[in-house]
Amino acid sequence: MKNHMQLQFSALSQNEAFARVAVASFISQLDVTMEELEEIKTVVSEAVTNAIIHAYEENPLGVVHIEASLEDGVVELVIEDYGKGIVDVEEAMQPLFTSKPELERSGMGFTIMENFMDSLEVVTAIDQGTRIRLVKRLAYAKALQS
Ligand SMILES: Nc1ncnc2c1ncn2[C@@H]1O[C@H](COP(=O)(O)OP(=O)(O)OP(=O)(O)O)[C@@H](O)[C@H]1O
Ligand SMILES: [Mg+2]
Repeated sequence: MKNHMQLQFSALSQNEAFARVAVASFISQLDVTMEELEEIKTVVSEAVTNAIIHAYEENPLGVVHIEASLEDGVVELVIEDYGKGIVDVEEAMQPLFTSKPELERSGMGFTIMENFMDSLEVVTAIDQGTRIRLVKRLAYAKALQS
């Protein structure tokens, strides 16, 4: 059975903590390890921070939408914004690439998302927004399969 949740909130930096705790609490119903939970929380933080800082340039009128689905030990996350979009996704996904070096960003957000999850998809359009889809199969589900 598939279990699904969605949330929408203002693009305020204090909501980054809210988003990571909300997603972690939803996922905790599965047999998830502490390490997996930490990875998923980090990934949510990275994607939500990107929406707040890059998509909306910290304009609190911006809206961030997140979804989480659980099915057979597979976690699917969607983090979506309706902000400025990414001009060159390939460049944006390079390790260490950042368009905001002045804010001391390290350009590692996408690399962290890729490393902690099994798959990462980015759909973006200029001035329409960006949708990030991340999928991870939890270890207990892999063990059941083999
Ligand atoms: N939701 C988004 N909307 C618009 N641009 C984005 C979005 N997410 C990422 N980007 C662009 O992609 C670049 C790379 O993102 P990434 O998260 O890898 O690094 P960063 O946010 O610059 O630094 P860090 O995440 O390490 O603090 C950003 O600098 C920004 O230009
Ligand atoms: Mg980032």
